[in-house]
Amino acid sequence: MNENKIKDLLRKMTLNEKIGQVTQLATPFFKGASDQGQITGPMKDINIPENMIQLAGSVLGASGAKETKLIQKQYLQDNRLGIPLLIMSDIIHGYKTIFPVPLAIGSSWDLQLAEKSATIAAKEAAVSGVHVTFAPMVDLVRDPRWGRVVESTGEDPYLNSVFAKAQVRGFQGTDLKHDHERVASCVKHFAGYGAAEGGRDYNTVNMSERDLRESYLLAFKAALEAGSELVMTAFNTVDGIPASGNKWLMRDLLREEWKFDGVVISDWGAVKELIPHGVAEDEAEAAAKALSAGVDIEMMTDCYANHLQSLIESNQIDTSLLDEAVMRILELKDKLGLFDHPFRGADEKREAEIVMCPEHRQVARELATKSCVLLQNKGGILPLHPTRKVGLIGPFANNNDILGPWSWLGAKDDAVTLYEGIMKKVPASKLVVANGCGIDTSCEIELAKAIDVAKQSDVIVLALGESSDMSGEAGSRANIQLPHVQLQLVEVLVELGKPTVAVLFNGRPLDLHGVVDKVDAVLEAWYPGTEGGSAIADILFGEVNPSGKITMSFPYSVGQIPVYYNNYNTGRPKGAINAQERYVSQYLDCPNEALFPFGYGLSYTSFDYSNFILSSDTITPDKPLTIKVKITNTGDVAGEEVVQLYVRDLVGEVVRSLKELKGFKKIYLQPGEEKEVTFMLTEEQLRYYHADLSFYSDEGKFEVYVGPNSRDVMALSFELRKTKGE
Ligand code: GLC
Repeated sequence: MNENKIKDLLRKMTLNEKIGQVTQLATPFFKGASDQGQITGPMKDINIPENMIQLAGSVLGASGAKETKLIQKQYLQDNRLGIPLLIMSDIIHGYKTIFPVPLAIGSSWDLQLAEKSATIAAKEAAVSGVHVTFAPMVDLVRDPRWGRVVESTGEDPYLNSVFAKAQVRGFQGTDLKHDHERVASCVKHFAGYGAAEGGRDYNTVNMSERDLRESYLLAFKAALEAGSELVMTAFNTVDGIPASGNKWLMRDLLREEWKFDGVVISDWGAVKELIPHGVAEDEAEAAAKALSAGVDIEMMTDCYANHLQSLIESNQIDTSLLDEAVMRILELKDKLGLFDHPFRGADEKREAEIVMCPEHRQVARELATKSCVLLQNKGGILPLHPTRKVGLIGPFANNNDILGPWSWLGAKDDAVTLYEGIMKKVPASKLVVANGCGIDTSCEIELAKAIDVAKQSDVIVLALGESSDMSGEAGSRANIQLPHVQLQLVEVLVELGKPTVAVLFNGRPLDLHGVVDKVDAVLEAWYPGTEGGSAIADILFGEVNPSGKITMSFPYSVGQIPVYYNNYNTGRPKGAINAQERYVSQYLDCPNEALFPFGYGLSYTSFDYSNFILSSDTITPDKPLTIKVKITNTGDVAGEEVVQLYVRDLVGEVVRSLKELKGFKKIYLQPGEEKEVTFMLTEEQLRYYHADLSFYSDEGKFEVYVGPNSRDVMALSFELRKTKGE
């Protein structure tokens, strides 16, 4: 349908039909929907008038080819102008085949596989009738107390940007109108949600515009450059104004500066939440503020439905604001081909063929192996030898709660537990299992069994972690250690003096005191998804050499938070020179650095970095720098290494990070093999926001680093020079 036809359609619409289009309701409100749709927020006090329910332009949480076709059919029967319903859902890390959680996918540093997982998720969702996914979530995160760090790819703006692009490409493909096995993406949560004070979900966010632009907005811009069709506004304030009522954020920045012309949808209830935020007196004012600020669709509250008509008819807001929102919604429906194909990709036969098919599960297993991070391996006790008897002990030993948050349509029963994964590797006589305790409950009998199992074993594999409801939305924790009963289990079992491995199932960097100082090896498995148990067993027994690297720092203690790699130096840095000095920036009882820094992860082999050279000691706007480094696999097994490139601007108009990730390469090396890795560094990559928010680079000295993580790096220097007047 071309633009004129859409404008014609808009002209034919009544005021109520337009108001319907800007309202989104959850599945239970729709005819033909089963009531187990995805409910992800408060359902209380929603008073949608009956006529508005029929007119609501989009639904969230519906899925299944048969069900969505029925909903669409019923909807079109009631729709005077034949405007199809838009079906949106949270397909965050898989539809039914569940991939590792995004914080795990980020740890893979594998953009191709990340894109592939989004493509598969889109395919499974599209044939099941979904049109739009509320992903990627691109919030930058520095506070592991926040439950939603699990949905992010981490603490670095550049890394989050390239993952955002990969996910949007995977979800959308290049032709949404005709490729009905893709879905439109909705980048979220715009903006700054990851900086909630105290890591407490929905809490206040306070930061300068420069911080926002330099760290938190980069990945949004990247997702929009990749073509994300929608943006979702966040719950939090941005400089004192809630995002969903923030005109600067949505109109000045998103529409005017970034030229975004897609659909903006509020997060669940965020329009009505302008009232408790204290910037709207009532629902009418909330509706007026949100629409004026630029929210096109109100998700799951009733301010638009109940008040836009009177606001427009009394000229408190101009009908043009409503028309522009409805126009964008109709254009999105047209971009998805819904006017010609209202059922779009929904196809029971295709659904049966491809959802959870072996090929998709294999990709989930491969991505899970690449997302696991080997944090410690004292004495090289990993990989395990199948002749040694394994005592698998812990609340996650045979637990299918490993899909993680936002895996709605994934079935835990489909998940391969760690026990099931190991069973495929060793004879039954070589595997004994016991829970030892619950996630956060103790049991004397279980503990006694665990001790007995441990005594029978040659090696103990502890399976520990957080239940999935200890992570994700509204899953903030003030104490980020493992539950106390699990630490007690570790304490008791390590007394036996046997080689002990801890496998962790969790959605955040944990305070690992009581684990890393007790056991020999630690494998961070996150929530590894449907094929989690198989993937972890592949690693434990050496069929796969772990290559994951964390993308969010693990603190020594929650007291350090926020601790992240790209911090500023301060005026009193604690360092080697003044290591004994008291009056420097430090704690009396804890190191400043992270226990495990951004980019950290071990391998079963070892890699040597040498021949680190620059093409010149200067860089200019038209003469990029070529950076080379030789990597040698000095161990006796093949493996992958993520070679990381960082830069430091030694002097800026404003303070500059000690390190900034500017590139990375994941390479595979056979034992003894060496490869020269080359990076290009341009003047553009050295630009930053100055005090007046202008964005450009300064002449001056820089350091450049390469290494296996953000701490253990080699350093060289160069200078940026500009011809006069640049
Ligand atoms: C939730 C989440 C958001 C999700 C939406 C719809 O409250 O904040 O990420 O996409 O509601 O489920």
